[in-house]
Amino acid sequence: MSSALEDTLWQTMSKSEKYDLVNQQLPTLLDNSVDDVANLANASALLKEAFGWWWVGFYRKQETALILGPFQGPMACTRIAYGKGVCGSCWKEEKTLVVPDVEEFPGHIACSAASKSEIVVPIWNARGDFWGVLDADSEHMAHFDDLDSSELELFCRTLSPYLS
Ligand code: SME
Repeated sequence: MSSALEDTLWQTMSKSEKYDLVNQQLPTLLDNSVDDVANLANASALLKEAFGWWWVGFYRKQETALILGPFQGPMACTRIAYGKGVCGSCWKEEKTLVVPDVEEFPGHIACSAASKSEIVVPIWNARGDFWGVLDADSEHMAHFDDLDSSELELFCRTLSPYLS
């Protein structure tokens, strides 16, 4: 659905303007009559289109591990254990983790050598159970800040009622 015109429009906007539009668009893409995969596929595409991050996608909790879900970007590792890497640490600590330099994060899991900084946001479903995480990676150092944290937390709260 993306056009060259839409790509150009995103490029003219500030980060805060992009988040305003992303968080307005997300509810229009979500559908309670389809499964998590369909909703999260469009949610990851929306973030990729708006921000052009190196990698963005979801990992879903399945028993004792996080399993790769819908994403945009290069191939990624399929399984992350509780407490491991940035994603597994986000699950353990149940809070957003902003990593300005992935080399400095003990146990960081390098799915791609190009990734330099990362943000991981925890997600709960409508029942209040931990569902999984949203993970975004950048090829630039220190790419994510407090604005990304608060806006992506809002993004994930909007997703919650649509997750099983
Ligand atoms: N870097 C993550 C692994 C997932 S990839 O970045 C897509 C981590 O340390 O958990």
